[in-house]
Amino acid sequence: VAFNEPHRPQFHFTPPTGWMNDPNGMVYHNGEYHLFYQHNPDSTVWGPMHWGHAVSKDMVRWEHLPIALYPDSLGMIFSGSAVVDTKNTSGLGTAENPPLIAIFTYHDAEAEKAGRNDYQTQGIAYSLNNGRTWTKYRNNPVLKNPGIRDFRDPKVMWYEKGQEWIMTLAVKDHISFYASKNLLDWKLRSDFGADVGAHGGVWECPDLIKMPVKGTNEEKWVLIVNINPGAPNGGSGTQYFVGDFNGSKFILDPDFKANLSAKPSIAATVNGQEGIWLDYGRDQYAGITWANVPKEDGRHLFIGWMSNWDYANVVPTEKWRSAMTVARSLELVNTPAGLRVASKPVQELQNIYHKTHVLEAQTVSGAIDISEQLSVKSSSYDLSLEVEPDASQKSFAVELSNSRNQQVLIGYDADRGQYYINRKKAGEHSFSDKFSGIQYAPRFSKDKLFSLRLVVDVASVELFADEGRTVMTSIFFPDEEFTKIRLIADKGQLKLSSGKLTELKSIYA
Ligand code: FRU
Repeated sequence: VAFNEPHRPQFHFTPPTGWMNDPNGMVYHNGEYHLFYQHNPDSTVWGPMHWGHAVSKDMVRWEHLPIALYPDSLGMIFSGSAVVDTKNTSGLGTAENPPLIAIFTYHDAEAEKAGRNDYQTQGIAYSLNNGRTWTKYRNNPVLKNPGIRDFRDPKVMWYEKGQEWIMTLAVKDHISFYASKNLLDWKLRSDFGADVGAHGGVWECPDLIKMPVKGTNEEKWVLIVNINPGAPNGGSGTQYFVGDFNGSKFILDPDFKANLSAKPSIAATVNGQEGIWLDYGRDQYAGITWANVPKEDGRHLFIGWMSNWDYANVVPTEKWRSAMTVARSLELVNTPAGLRVASKPVQELQNIYHKTHVLEAQTVSGAIDISEQLSVKSSSYDLSLEVEPDASQKSFAVELSNSRNQQVLIGYDADRGQYYINRKKAGEHSFSDKFSGIQYAPRFSKDKLFSLRLVVDVASVELFADEGRTVMTSIFFPDEEFTKIRLIADKGQLKLSSGKLTELKSIYA
């Protein structure tokens, strides 16, 4: 595979061939970031799920490895996580060579066809050689199904205070927390969420992380819950909750809870949907964080699948389907709207920085052509802009376009007080009537200055606005790559106080 087909991202992770959905089993171990993923190697549509595998030293350049987990008599291998069993609590390795343990969902399609409800169970596999080969545990499953059809996507972490493992599991319309001393025997501790947050679909792929509140000594727990459908802009999306975890229960922060239901407040629900979302764009799903990131590093490293179940199976790529988002670092920050999870691309993205071009500060009335001012013709870059609209008209947009008049607009709609991405004319969309349209996201900042960072890569844009307080990810399929970039001041004037564009190298060059 040359990785140069039409629409192939040049620095986002894609499978060489075949179908990919959720990121799985992200774990840092012995200097490598592991990324596994939901994979159908024999087709470009969803089917019998395997765990594909890749490793990286920087979460930017990846080495593709052989498939890690194949379906077996207990079922296909659905989503899950991985941990380093440092104390060898499982006994599956040794203290000198602690095992890497993958905890995943078995999905038994035959049991499902036969009309049973208990076809999803949790199994584990271990590796004693840095994830290069895997052995399934002989007494799988380790967690049987209590008779609930949606019972999946275990995310396991070591809970230091209680000296035990906690499994966060998505169970239909809620999260269940299980505990274990050895990763083999699990006990139910509590359930959370049936009565809060977004419930337009099934809860999937959760994550539970302890985060410092930036700039304070306080720590909070953040519970990430993916949901499909039910996202604010349709289809699948990632909501989260801020609260505390005491080893048994997740307790929602009262202020955050108030945010969830305060409809007309600054939380500015999008399309009437309840919930606070980690990414408001159409195309970030099933995102969770890396396990075992060294304490000295301390980051919460996140990656998501850059598609949406509304159309993932039919997007116009032929050899492979879907990419991951850029790896992101998450922080919990105070905003005028309350505590929010902010995201930014990992700083390792610098490893593929090529040339940086600096824009002159200027006042925009009408529009300016950024690509022309900088003499750049690129479709893979990292663009930062700081703009200050005048009082009369605050709407503005960045337009990415090509010579065929196809375009995607990433902007701010002052009437709504929301960011948006408009891909109505972004090229091919006949594959699904759910693809075209405008997506919106609330703004969680009241600064006069708008800071926008756009990470663009052939077929996608990731918007990190206001230092990542609002994030939107969206894919597109133009007939010719978008290399023209304009900044449009809707009416009135827009002060561009600073701007720079860094071209990004292909990870395949
Ligand atoms: C989320 C999901 C998971 C499941 C996997 C199957 O996208 O539906 O809940 O484990 O995909 O591929």
